[in-house]
Amino acid sequence: MKIGWQSPSNIALVKYWGKRDPQLPSNPSISFTLEACHSQTFVEFEVGQGISLHLDGVDTPSFVPKISQFIERILPRHPWLADYRLTVETHNSFPHSSGIASSASGMSALALCVVDAAIALGHTLAEADPRREASILSRLGSGSASRSVYGGLVAWGETPSVPGGHDAYAIPYPHAVHPLFHTFCDVVVLVDVGQKAVSSTAGHALMDKHPFAQQRFKQAHRHMADLRGILSQGEVLPFLDLVESEALTLHGLMMSSQPSYILMRPNTLHILEAIRQFRHESGMPIGFTLDAGSNVHVLFPKEVEQSAMRFVSDVLAPYAKDHRFIADRVGQGPVSLQ
Ligand code: PMV
Repeated sequence: MKIGWQSPSNIALVKYWGKRDPQLPSNPSISFTLEACHSQTFVEFEVGQGISLHLDGVDTPSFVPKISQFIERILPRHPWLADYRLTVETHNSFPHSSGIASSASGMSALALCVVDAAIALGHTLAEADPRREASILSRLGSGSASRSVYGGLVAWGETPSVPGGHDAYAIPYPHAVHPLFHTFCDVVVLVDVGQKAVSSTAGHALMDKHPFAQQRFKQAHRHMADLRGILSQGEVLPFLDLVESEALTLHGLMMSSQPSYILMRPNTLHILEAIRQFRHESGMPIGFTLDAGSNVHVLFPKEVEQSAMRFVSDVLAPYAKDHRFIADRVGQGPVSLQ
């Protein structure tokens, strides 16, 4: 039995940073699901034992331990997997050398395949809704992957302003959203395409004893509440202010961890400054966010796409490694490849 899914990456607007067992978030988060950055994964399930993985057609044993760990974590919900051998073929739309993490798209694609296989084999899912089950499994693979199983704006975590929000799975954002946020653009400017100096796993762990942790978690709840009006009213500039504050807070937390570390590179800062200066001088609604790395996600509404893209190629690309950037936008979520 062979099952395939294409699943996207996502970019958090309010960041998940800090967690407790089993992979539950210390604070709520919300993201845009992306479109161009995705993984396509086929899994062949055969009775037997073992896992093999081909990345872009090349046998890649170095990825197998991550998949084994994922299978071990989801085994209590899917004990049938213990009797199956998995042959995984996966391909990422974004280059491996882009510094873009493939964990959200890769883990969610894999989780969606497992859920479909369980259904095809006649097993009853622990969650009646297959997509919710896939979000739970994705979360166990990589926290942020829980949000990749839906399109558009997706919320994860319990917080008073998001009814139905849950720490165990993500949900489509339940409030009204102004149309301009359905087509928002995200251009990822690739600053440093190498391996991150400190992994997200290590970064989350440093929040356990972080001196500012409690204030930070409170702030995330407040930002989730503030976003409600901003998103429904289409208030782009307050949106960009809030999202930039989240990005800088994330990196501020890294810089104030014990031990401290810095993932931004000098060119990351050049880009952030250029974006703010351009917004200030032109009045154009263009802003940024960052994930746990040095690349910059440049955010703007589709209405200003032409001039924003000109600014990206003329002013920002020279700060990027080999002038590289990936033009992406809000996407519709996973697609079955059957
Ligand atoms: O899903 P993880 O464990 O790789 O953590 C992701 C953390 C951030 O990307 C920095 C924030 C987020 O909410 O996606």
